[in-house]
Amino acid sequence: MRLEKDLYAIDKKLLVKAGNKITRKVLNEVAGLSGKVHYVPIKDKWIMKDLIQTFKDKRYAHILYPPETNKKIIRSIHHMKMPEKILSELAFMKKLSPYTYHHVLVIAILAAKISFDHSIKSRFAADKALLLSLFHDLGKSRIPLSILDKPTPITLYEREILSSHPLIGYVLLHYYFGHNHKNYSFSSFQHHERLDGSGYPLGIKTLNKYSQLIGVVDALDALISERPYRSKPFSLRAAIDLLLEEAEKGRFNKSLVRTLIVYSRKKTPGTKIIIGERGRDKAPVDNSYGKTASS
Ligand SMILES: [Fe+2]
Ligand SMILES: [Fe+2]
Repeated sequence: MRLEKDLYAIDKKLLVKAGNKITRKVLNEVAGLSGKVHYVPIKDKWIMKDLIQTFKDKRYAHILYPPETNKKIIRSIHHMKMPEKILSELAFMKKLSPYTYHHVLVIAILAAKISFDHSIKSRFAADKALLLSLFHDLGKSRIPLSILDKPTPITLYEREILSSHPLIGYVLLHYYFGHNHKNYSFSSFQHHERLDGSGYPLGIKTLNKYSQLIGVVDALDALISERPYRSKPFSLRAAIDLLLEEAEKGRFNKSLVRTLIVYSRKKTPGTKIIIGERGRDKAPVDNSYGKTASS
């Protein structure tokens, strides 16, 4: 794995030179550059206000219900701390690409919500899900806006550039967390991997449970968000139905998708549901999901 451009951290430190192979040794060197990591609470900071504002996103009204769970999530937010340099990264992202910034906030609260309601043995810690989600797309801040916000489907070359964002985020998180990176950096690296090996960057099949959670909500938000390159986003129902199909093909964790279905049916979390073939919603025409321009 290599990067096309020199990669700089938010404090302007050069982490990896363009074209250099990113090996375990290189990543350890990047982690060693960080020195002592300075953690800051986010209580009463702009990002905390933005996170709380995100609960008002109408597209997710079904999911962010009932409000009692939201209060629990807000309590987690109040206690949240993160490396100071990541806070600067998120401030940079907010300015550069408000869409990506809003997206990571959405993923954070959706992942936290599912953490509270998901009812299989391996439970999630909501505070960890929140943090990991906020970091998952840090690499997008190094992708040119001409690609991120392109009004038409991207070319194969542009897709290659865009697909480097999990690796870029992975390297950045090694630097921001230093020797503690193992607990966090995978969220960036694995969020586009799929359980059947069809994802990227490596096509691995064994994924951390938080990566599986972020992968599901990330795909959901990508489907239902308005993007310049498509005329109409998916309805929440059609998006969840597509995720279900993908889960049936072995790409996503089915029990996580089932939790979304419970929300979409306005059932109390933990309710047993029957999932049939009938009544599934259709994708909008010309939805461009996963499409690449032919040139
Ligand atoms: Fe991503
Ligand atoms: Fe994402």
